[in-house]
Amino acid sequence: MSTHIGAAPGDIAETVLMPGDPYRARWAAQTFLDAPRLINEVRGMLGYTGTWRGHPVTIQGSGMGMPSLSIYANELLREYGAKTLIRIGSCGAMQEAVKLRDVVIAQTASAASTPSSTIFREMGFAPSADYRLLAAAVAAAEEKGLTPHVGGIYSSDTFYDERADLTEQLQRHGVLAVEMEAAELYTLALRHGARALAVLTVSDHLVTHEALPAKDREQSFGDMVEIALTAAFA
Ligand code: ADE
Repeated sequence: MSTHIGAAPGDIAETVLMPGDPYRARWAAQTFLDAPRLINEVRGMLGYTGTWRGHPVTIQGSGMGMPSLSIYANELLREYGAKTLIRIGSCGAMQEAVKLRDVVIAQTASAASTPSSTIFREMGFAPSADYRLLAAAVAAAEEKGLTPHVGGIYSSDTFYDERADLTEQLQRHGVLAVEMEAAELYTLALRHGARALAVLTVSDHLVTHEALPAKDREQSFGDMVEIALTAAFA
């Protein structure tokens, strides 16, 4: 086991889906994987391994925010040999054309800072998704009849952000949505020669101030899981 993951060596697949919420990890594993088994429950951050169409897959919660995700992604990459990490989660839309429930596939993730950013000194490093994984996810979404938004997102350190001027600048520069994890995930995957992607569903809207009712979230979340799994093995 690693410091924060209690799985035995070999219990984690090379392909890992990472929702923020550990209960979503349990739901996704029980809904989409064959023979899912619990491989981690340290601090309640549930992880399951099973198979999807015969391929081994782990679904491991990341927690909220980049510091939490960084712990799990580092240990998955460095100690368990993970090769493909796909975040599946929610986001807040920043453009009017991006609607509630829409799927956003993040090509890049801008951030004011990440747990990794100090190593780049004065450089503004551009965390970017794995291109083939991204292309496969777009194809998988379209195959399901969805029209995903593909482009830049913003990985924030604050859910309750008071900086209206910052939001406005990001909107002016075409940023599609805000979430709190992808920039660090992309940076770590690039550092360790792995593939990463974030497939997101819009749960709230920064322009219209609408929010998805909790009961409507499951179906949208299921679409993301299927898109991520299809892309991982395309
Ligand atoms: N995840 C979902 N909605 C969000 C928002 N509005 N800000 C940050 N992360 C989010």
